[in-house]
Amino acid sequence: MFVPDANSESNITNINGLKQTISKKLANEAISEESPDIFSKDTTESHLPLSYISHQRELHQMQLAIEELKRDLKASEARFHNVIAKNADSIVVVNKKGLVCFVNSSAQHLFGCKDEELLGKEFFGNLVVEGSACDLEINTDIIHQVGKTELPGMRVVQTEVEALRKDRENAIVEMRVVETEWEGKMAYLATLRDITDRKRTEEMLWLYSRAMAAASTGIVIADATTSNLANIYCNPAFAKMTGYSQEEIIGNNCRLLQGNDTDPEAVDQIRQALQNQSQCTVVLKNYRKDGRAFWNQLAISPVRDRKGKLTHFIGVQMDVTKGKEAEEALQISEAKSREQATKLEVALNQLQQTHSQLVQSEKMSSLGLLVAGVAHEINNPVSFIYGNLTHLDNYTQELLYLLKLYQQHYPHPVLEIKEKIEAIELDFLMEDLTQMLSSMNVGVDRICQIVNSLRNFSRHDESAIKAVNIHEGIDSTLLILNHRMKATGSTQAIQVVKEYGELPAVECYAGPINQVFMNILGNAIDALEDSNKERTIQEIRDNPSKIKISTSVVDDNYVEIKIADNGPGMTEEVKQRIFDTFFTTKPVGKGTGIGLSISYQIVTERHRGEVNCVSEIGQGTEFNIKLPIRHLT
Ligand SMILES: Cc1cc2nc3c(=O)[nH]c(=O)nc-3n(C[C@H](O)[C@H](O)[C@H](O)COP(=O)(O)O)c2cc1C
Ligand SMILES: Nc1ncnc2c1ncn2[C@@H]1O[C@H](COP(=O)(O)OP(=O)(O)O)[C@@H](O)[C@H]1O
Ligand SMILES: [Mg+2]
Repeated sequence: MFVPDANSESNITNINGLKQTISKKLANEAISEESPDIFSKDTTESHLPLSYISHQRELHQMQLAIEELKRDLKASEARFHNVIAKNADSIVVVNKKGLVCFVNSSAQHLFGCKDEELLGKEFFGNLVVEGSACDLEINTDIIHQVGKTELPGMRVVQTEVEALRKDRENAIVEMRVVETEWEGKMAYLATLRDITDRKRTEEMLWLYSRAMAAASTGIVIADATTSNLANIYCNPAFAKMTGYSQEEIIGNNCRLLQGNDTDPEAVDQIRQALQNQSQCTVVLKNYRKDGRAFWNQLAISPVRDRKGKLTHFIGVQMDVTKGKEAEEALQISEAKSREQATKLEVALNQLQQTHSQLVQSEKMSSLGLLVAGVAHEINNPVSFIYGNLTHLDNYTQELLYLLKLYQQHYPHPVLEIKEKIEAIELDFLMEDLTQMLSSMNVGVDRICQIVNSLRNFSRHDESAIKAVNIHEGIDSTLLILNHRMKATGSTQAIQVVKEYGELPAVECYAGPINQVFMNILGNAIDALEDSNKERTIQEIRDNPSKIKISTSVVDDNYVEIKIADNGPGMTEEVKQRIFDTFFTTKPVGKGTGIGLSISYQIVTERHRGEVNCVSEIGQGTEFNIKLPIRHLT
């Protein structure tokens, strides 16, 4: 038989209780005099002593009451059995010796055993042991703890134990034990609920919360269902980072960290992300409670429930002030390095230019020195000759006149003189001598001119600005280069066409300007020589090499010197680079690539003029130099 309603002391079925119930029933029946009576109709038995009859009636009524009670009891027992059997919790009845006397099907399922395997087994130690997750120390002594109940009148204990299961890992169960009566004896009714999953979840939750607490990054959770997105949690790292206590953060919105100079674009980005319920990461300036600023690298993610409904936002914050400062410092130092590199590059370029300029001006200077020296050396003897030539001419004329007088007054000389006159062909000699003297005069004149040109070109003595005749400079340069333009056995001469305009004296550094003419004319000769190597004599005759030099005054304040050749011209690529230092298309030993870069510098920097080049393949090349007439300092 099963003990019904073990939890209620009043309903514990024991014999005393039963007796009480029956007497109550009988008392009720006795009061009811008018109720139909089974004996009252039986008149045949009216002769029986009244006491007997009344006793019999009483007995009969008792039997009826017992029957009814039995039925009630059976029904109640069945109901209760049903409840116990179908209970989701495992129910085990353990007698005072600790042996199992009843198990429901949930208990069988929990332990993974049939009831016959469980019945009679020792419950404590065999089926349940104190578990790792137990709060209370439980062992077989648990029995002694029964009675430490909080509820008055209920001897109960509640604890967590481990259920030892057949062929399966132990389950953590919540066990509730109450005293009961089993087959007339005092026993224990244990209700067991499998809380393994709940326990694991709790454990994981505990771990997560430990992880959150131990994390060095700030973590804050806001309730997305509140209009103000109030924070419901923040970890210690967040509190440490911001200087606000957890109490101050919870219930508040994180915008309290922002200041006047917090980047509005970053805040707007957050606002957009929150509105779109999407993830966002920003770095923005925030302020601690004490007013100190810090850079916050903030990542906000939405959290949804199983149905996809937004419930929370999680913010993860990291103080990146140091990194940001380092980044800024790096940017500054990078900018400085770049600036320095640019300066260095400029300095290097200048150095290269100065170097090449030095080399060139050294060359020019030695050339100038040589030219000046030669001019000087020639000048003396030539002036000597030039100065004496006039006297020679005079003396010769006088002598010839004297000879003529002799011939007039002594027409018949002696034989010896006669023979000598014939031998030297006196008439021819007298005529030729005069001519010789005049051609010597022309020659000496030419030498003087050349010497003058050489001295003019070298301008060695003129390092300062001076108003000079540009045409003289061009002419003396052409004179120096003349030997390269003359026809030789194998090459044709280069024609020079001059179209000189009326030029005023130009204030300039004469030596360097001559150097520019020298470089440009030299290049033109190089280009023409090169192209002639590729042409037949006929082609050269049909289209002879030419250098045209034209000058004019432009815009009143400038002179323009154009030096054009009908050579091969340049490609666009070459043209783009001709003024670059060390750019050359000529073979090693011939080209240095510094002529034009120096010329550019002399014209543009030293004279604030301009130099341009127009050139196309097959169309020749023209250099156009513009110099201010007055030098502005
Ligand atoms: C979970 C969460 C964490 C946030 N953490 C920060 C933060 O650390 N610093 C900050 O300046 N803003 C933070 N914000 C953004 C502000 O709370 C606020 O949403 C933002 O300023 C835009 O809204 P408002 O226009 O109402 O100010 C966070 C927002 C959420 C939802
Ligand atoms: N008149 C020209 N025709 C064709 N190319 C020219 C002419 N003048 C200059 N160049 C080109 O410009 C380059 C640079 O000239 P330059 O600076 O004087 O150096 P280099 O004469 O030593 O090569 C030359 O190598 C050549 O390719
Ligand atoms: Mg050159």
